[in-house]
Amino acid sequence: MIETYVENMQKAFHGFVPEVLIILGSGLGVLADRISDKIIVPYTQIGFPKIMVSGHKGELIAGRLGGRNVLCMNGRYHLYEGHPASLAKDMMSAFQKVGIKEVIATNAAGSLRADMPAGSLMMITDHINFSGQNPLIGANNDKEGPRFPDMSNDYDHELQERIRQTAKENNIKLYEGTYFFVVGPNFETKAEVKAFRLLGADAVGMSTVPEVISAIYFGMKVVGISVITNQSADIQSIPLSHEETLMEAHMAAVDLQGLLIKYLEK
Ligand code: HPA
Repeated sequence: MIETYVENMQKAFHGFVPEVLIILGSGLGVLADRISDKIIVPYTQIGFPKIMVSGHKGELIAGRLGGRNVLCMNGRYHLYEGHPASLAKDMMSAFQKVGIKEVIATNAAGSLRADMPAGSLMMITDHINFSGQNPLIGANNDKEGPRFPDMSNDYDHELQERIRQTAKENNIKLYEGTYFFVVGPNFETKAEVKAFRLLGADAVGMSTVPEVISAIYFGMKVVGISVITNQSADIQSIPLSHEETLMEAHMAAVDLQGLLIKYLEK
């Protein structure tokens, strides 16, 4: 499977070697508009499964952004669709084999902090995997990565500092915090968000962590940014919806686009 992914990507890229992988979260597809010299490859052409969430397209976009060779995942897979967590490991393995060394993971997330409103950008400084699942479950190939990978430096400190500086220089307000990963697909109950807050989380979402764990396993450097699309159920008075998530994400995507392009240029 992994070999097929690699072969199909290399065939489609015609010698282009991407270095930075950008994973686009729900409603953040506009980021891909700024990529030049684009090669667009539908996931089905690579052998990846079909995407089933609205707001997620299902294509890879290879090209240049901020002076670097990037590969953009426009659309991601979620555990709540029924995909196994190991899909993230297989995909990351293939991405590493085509040249990826650095991963920028973005997502839409709910805020657990009253002082971090919808529309905010939050750099992920750490995460809590509350899913009960892990992409690394199964036999381990010690040549690829360790059986028990260290996660104490999960989000790369040097790259985090670069994002921090970039935000400061461009007057982009950037929150920082811990991302709490739940499987979904239901939004959280009031009791759940209270509990997650007590556990030390700042934002909650249904993605990213399987890809991050896999990327770290394969030795890639990772940074993550959440676009805050709503307040949590115990703070916000109106019911949560996917439509609201997409709308807020579209609005904050402009800030995120600016931040990431400047970051890549640094
Ligand atoms: N909870 C979980 N996932 C989310 C949320 C939320 O409030 N907002 C966007 N993705």
